[in-house]
Amino acid sequence: MLSSTITSPIVRLANWLPRIFKRYDNSSLVLKDGTIVYLRQVCAVDASLVHQIYAEMSEDSLFQRFNACPSASLCRNLAEQTAVQAEENGFGLLAYVLDDEQESGIRPLGLAYYVNNGTDAPEFAISIVDACQKKGLGKILIAELFKSAKKAGLTFLKAYVLPINTGMRLLIQRAGKPHFYGEDGSYDTYKIVL
Ligand SMILES: CC(C)(COP(=O)(O)OP(=O)(O)OC[C@H]1O[C@@H](n2cnc3c(N)ncnc32)[C@H](O)[C@@H]1OP(=O)(O)O)[C@@H](O)C(=O)NCCC(=O)NCCS
Repeated sequence: MLSSTITSPIVRLANWLPRIFKRYDNSSLVLKDGTIVYLRQVCAVDASLVHQIYAEMSEDSLFQRFNACPSASLCRNLAEQTAVQAEENGFGLLAYVLDDEQESGIRPLGLAYYVNNGTDAPEFAISIVDACQKKGLGKILIAELFKSAKKAGLTFLKAYVLPINTGMRLLIQRAGKPHFYGEDGSYDTYKIVL
């Protein structure tokens, strides 16, 4: 699921330059604990930031996201794929805080993205670092992702959720959108009406 093709660095740079100047939203959002979070569109060059998110997720969280416990090197590849897919074949939002101690000046906290998969319902997924879970970031990201998808002309999004994933199930149910529930192998499937 959510597989991608990698294109040349020149094509990626050409795609990335206009986007970096057209940040998704410079307004800040406040989490339940008062943390000020910023959102911006994910670009292929964000692979290392996406990797930082995966690196700050526990084995349980990674399992719930990928239905596997990826090794450190696989996490790096998955991060690269995620960033490229989000830019080239879908849309993604990166949530971060400002942090002078990071080389990049920001500390990524979470990511939500969808990828067009040739059906009427592109697949979406969310990943939040463990330290920031249950603070309302998932709720913000899912709402913003749905808004962006609707603006892009989509009618549906789909998520594959493991039955043990209470957090994601609640997040979808509380997003307030009509949805269809189904089962697909080991996953519960949710098709959301945007
Ligand atoms: C699932 C996930 C995205 C939820 O994000 P989050 O930022 O922790 O969720 P929020 O804080 O916005 O919580 C939304 C609601 O769900 C509840 N909730 C979240 N996680 C929960 C959990 N594990 N158990 C019970 N309730 C939970 C919150 O209390 C909140 O309830 P409220 O609406 O009454 O306030 C996040 O935990 C995560 O990244 N998990 C690992 C990766 C994953 O499973 N991704 C989804 C696979 S597609």
